[in-house]
Amino acid sequence: MRVLVTGGAGFIGANFIHHVLATQGDEVRITNLDALTYAGNLASLASVADDPRYSFVHGDVRDAQVVDRLVADADAVVHFAAESHVDRSIDGPQVFLDTNVVGAGVVFDACRRAEVERVLHISTDEVYGSVAEPGSFVETDPMEPNSPYSASKAAADLLARSYATTYGFPVTVTRTTNNFGPFHYPEKVVPLFITNLLDGLKVPLYGDGSNVRDWTYVVDNAAAQWLALTSGTPGEVYNVGAGNECSNLELTHAILDRLGADESSIERVADRPGHDQRYSVDSAKIRALGWAPTVSFEEALDATIAWYRANEDWWRPLKEAGASARRGVRG
Ligand SMILES: NC(=O)c1ccc[n+]([C@@H]2O[C@H](COP(=O)([O-])OP(=O)(O)OC[C@H]3O[C@@H](n4cnc5c(N)ncnc54)[C@H](O)[C@@H]3O)[C@@H](O)[C@H]2O)c1
Repeated sequence: MRVLVTGGAGFIGANFIHHVLATQGDEVRITNLDALTYAGNLASLASVADDPRYSFVHGDVRDAQVVDRLVADADAVVHFAAESHVDRSIDGPQVFLDTNVVGAGVVFDACRRAEVERVLHISTDEVYGSVAEPGSFVETDPMEPNSPYSASKAAADLLARSYATTYGFPVTVTRTTNNFGPFHYPEKVVPLFITNLLDGLKVPLYGDGSNVRDWTYVVDNAAAQWLALTSGTPGEVYNVGAGNECSNLELTHAILDRLGADESSIERVADRPGHDQRYSVDSAKIRALGWAPTVSFEEALDATIAWYRANEDWWRPLKEAGASARRGVRG
């Protein structure tokens, strides 16, 4: 199977490529199309750069010419490429519309015209908006996104739906909860807090820290995405969440404890505008396909911290180039 992956130099895309190359044999070929924005990093793929099954193309998903050319040689397309940081979408929404909506449109239409056999569109649990305790969203619930980021993802998600309905387009959509793990750009809460604490700095916590997220280890998510691509039903949507719900304050304490720090390392900062209180999805549908997390939240957090301790060469240049400039503004 020749798989075109967009955004494969990003956090989840890189973990997905590692997963596929590690678990599949010679029958798989991966082409990674990535524009290498601030969030794209070929260092995350250094260990597979010479794998004959892998190749990289530097290009933009909004560029129909390059997308058409690559899609022509693909049996399957996995569309990760996106602007992914909610805070950046609040500061500057336009690029989110350009990449997340227009870019998805370019990818879908190239796939439609080339009659690609399988398309996986990576959406997010944030398209549903916030859910009150004790509920969890199922795939048929309406979308009520609240940030420019989640609205742009909802637009692409709906475009995928329209293509499936109108053209019989073989697209499967996944809506995954917050990921954490290796190769995560250190502006996002988990790697930001770990790397700040490794440097003896404080961690900026939004508001009262009561917002709840369901944390999925990226290695487990990579397996879920491959399963959705290869065994999911085209036209269907699959929620993916490990069921590790915790508040931002609980998450912060779990990280502080592991790094030998205490409450005094927390710096309270003004809450994110429009901050969704709680995300929670029912993942029964992807679990029925055979997916389950392989590690507990505690094991995954230990492994993540160990990875950041061991891979300072990966994250320090990113912090120095700007990720930490946002520290204390929005986590
Ligand atoms: N990180 C999460 O917790 C999470 C959860 C649910 C869904 N998602 C979704 O998963 C996908 C990947 O998220 P991530 O955290 O790996 O993001 P990321 O920001 O780490 O990586 C995004 C990648 O896309 C590339 N990219 C951006 N604009 C591009 C363009 N115009 N053309 C080509 N490449 C471009 C970047 O260079 C980068 O390599 C996104 O679609 C995101 O919405 C993420």
